[in-house]
Amino acid sequence: MSGGVDVAVDGVGKAFEGGRIRALVDASLRLAPGEFASLMGPSGSGKSTLLNLIGALDQPDRGTISVDGAALETLDAAKYRAATVGFVFQFHNLIPTLTALENVQVPMLGRGAARSVREERARSLLHEVGLARRERSFPGTLSGGERQRVALARALANEPRLLLADEPTGSLDSETEAQVLALIERVRAERGMTVLLVTNEAGVARSAERALHLLDGHVQEVEGE
Ligand SMILES: Nc1ncnc2c1ncn2[C@@H]1O[C@H](COP(=O)(O)OP(=O)(O)O)[C@@H](O)[C@H]1O
Ligand SMILES: [Mg+2]
Repeated sequence: MSGGVDVAVDGVGKAFEGGRIRALVDASLRLAPGEFASLMGPSGSGKSTLLNLIGALDQPDRGTISVDGAALETLDAAKYRAATVGFVFQFHNLIPTLTALENVQVPMLGRGAARSVREERARSLLHEVGLARRERSFPGTLSGGERQRVALARALANEPRLLLADEPTGSLDSETEAQVLALIERVRAERGMTVLLVTNEAGVARSAERALHLLDGHVQEVEGE
């Protein structure tokens, strides 16, 4: 088990277009190691912006984000992302010219592992998400749910301790969505990862241990779930 990180977001602000678009105003939240939290909020409320900041894909204008006590601004962003974070996006972002087995290996490239080791690990991850038989398939020949399962396997490639999922089931039908969520819950429980899952589905949000809501650039705890 790789375990989970704790995440502390304090007074984070982020604006775009010269300050005209205030995506986050004063966002704060805490995630305990291994916690599974959902993040809801209307479209345009800053959910993706917040995830991108926690994943060091972008930097805040104000405030601090710390992971296991280390402020992200003091870390090498690329190293932090590769070593600590797994990302799953709404649209899988798989590389269309690579097979499922090759796509899962992409995050492992440049980390010095031999090809045979990478392949074996990718194969075991595809097995874990129920796609052992599709390792040679290209993304275009897979269903939406299968593509998201490959994307999840890819996100797990470097044994992340923090999984950030941005509406990973947003483009799926409800049955497929339930399968992908059950899978996320299973891999989380097995690894003890910390998970922050953005969703617009209240039903999905309820499957998490804790529900957070983003409104007007602020994070609120949803009570009574
Ligand atoms: N790179 C960007 N450039 C300009 N505006 C952006 C950018 N990213 C996000 N925004 C704006 O910031 C606000 C929050 O966006 P986002 O975080 O994507 O919201 P959500 O994921 O909740 O739908 C929106 O008004 C969006 O248009
Ligand atoms: Mg979004």
